[in-house]
Amino acid sequence: MISCLREWLPPSGSSAGWPCLPLADRLPAGNATRWYATGRAALYQALRPLAGRTGAIALLPCYLAAGVIDPIRALGFTLRFYPTGPGLLPDLAALGDAVAGDPAAAVVVVLHPMGRVLDLGPLPGLCRSRGALLVEDCAQALFCSDPAGRPAGSGGDLALFSFTKYLGCLDGAAMVYRTAALPPPPQPRARPWSTRLAGAWYGAHLRLDRAMHRSPEAAGRLLAASGFCYDRFYAIASRDFRPLAPSPVSARQLQPLDWDALIARRKRNRSAVYSGLGRARLSLVYPDDQPGWVPMAVPALVEGGSREALVAAAMARNVFLASLTDRWDFLPPGGGFAHERHYLDRHVLIPVHEHLDDPAMHRLLDVLNAL
Ligand SMILES: Cc1ncc(COP(=O)(O)O)c(C=O)c1O
Repeated sequence: MISCLREWLPPSGSSAGWPCLPLADRLPAGNATRWYATGRAALYQALRPLAGRTGAIALLPCYLAAGVIDPIRALGFTLRFYPTGPGLLPDLAALGDAVAGDPAAAVVVVLHPMGRVLDLGPLPGLCRSRGALLVEDCAQALFCSDPAGRPAGSGGDLALFSFTKYLGCLDGAAMVYRTAALPPPPQPRARPWSTRLAGAWYGAHLRLDRAMHRSPEAAGRLLAASGFCYDRFYAIASRDFRPLAPSPVSARQLQPLDWDALIARRKRNRSAVYSGLGRARLSLVYPDDQPGWVPMAVPALVEGGSREALVAAAMARNVFLASLTDRWDFLPPGGGFAHERHYLDRHVLIPVHEHLDDPAMHRLLDVLNAL
């Protein structure tokens, strides 16, 4: 607890130090980048100049983080959800038709699910010609590129990155601006006490998660405590769209990371899953491996039987199969989103993070193949 308090006691400063981070070099090129504590605030602040247009529509994929939906809704846009195909990948032709057919479409969001980056083809040009702003949600696609080698976020007018899930830091997000239609807002300001308190809860959640990986025998209790801390954090931070700078704690956490080593490790682990998973109970969501893919985790679907039972069996052998469903547990009402429902009900995320070396990956795959 003392160390968590230390994390929010120092004054947070502005985001001025952030662009110096080596991370800035890893984002796609743009006119400007703004660094924030959260992705949702980055999105809210970017789209603010478009708010208040009567009847303006935002087109969103139907299975999406609340952290994207909430700020867009708070700005008064009418939300229209579009279905995606297998693996949550958008059908770009259908999306193009939807943009072309709706003169009120003001914002279009495309997600690169789990870091699988699509070549957006003519979509950016089409959106521009119709006066719609294209936002690429790259929160799961840091360091990832499309099959032609273009970094995630290279096509849209805005590219959103959120670092917490991907890098395990206390906070941090970036918005890359690539359009003359939207002026980048002023630099974000220092975090107030309430935000720093939220950071302390998040810090405790991260610590408990790490302890869980070190002491799998206590996993049940540590997981519950970690969830409790996360809920306290989320209650404060989830509806806070103010332009606040990321914390110096995250800057300190990220500064020493060796990005090349991290990327190489994740790629190697990803390939190990593709070559070593027997696929008896699990089928990979994306049948083909991709060289530019640096996933936070490799998604798979549980084939037959219960996901909960499979996750419990893996946990009993010290393998933690997460899923997005703790927070992404909803689809828009009305039905018709069959691919997303299937994904929501059956997916698990196979860890491939940089702390897993070759022997650890072999053990992990042995466990998965024996389930
Ligand atoms: C894909 C995606 N985009 C955007 C966000 C919002 O980012 P943040 O949590 O930093 O506000 C999230 C958060 O869950 C996310 O998962």
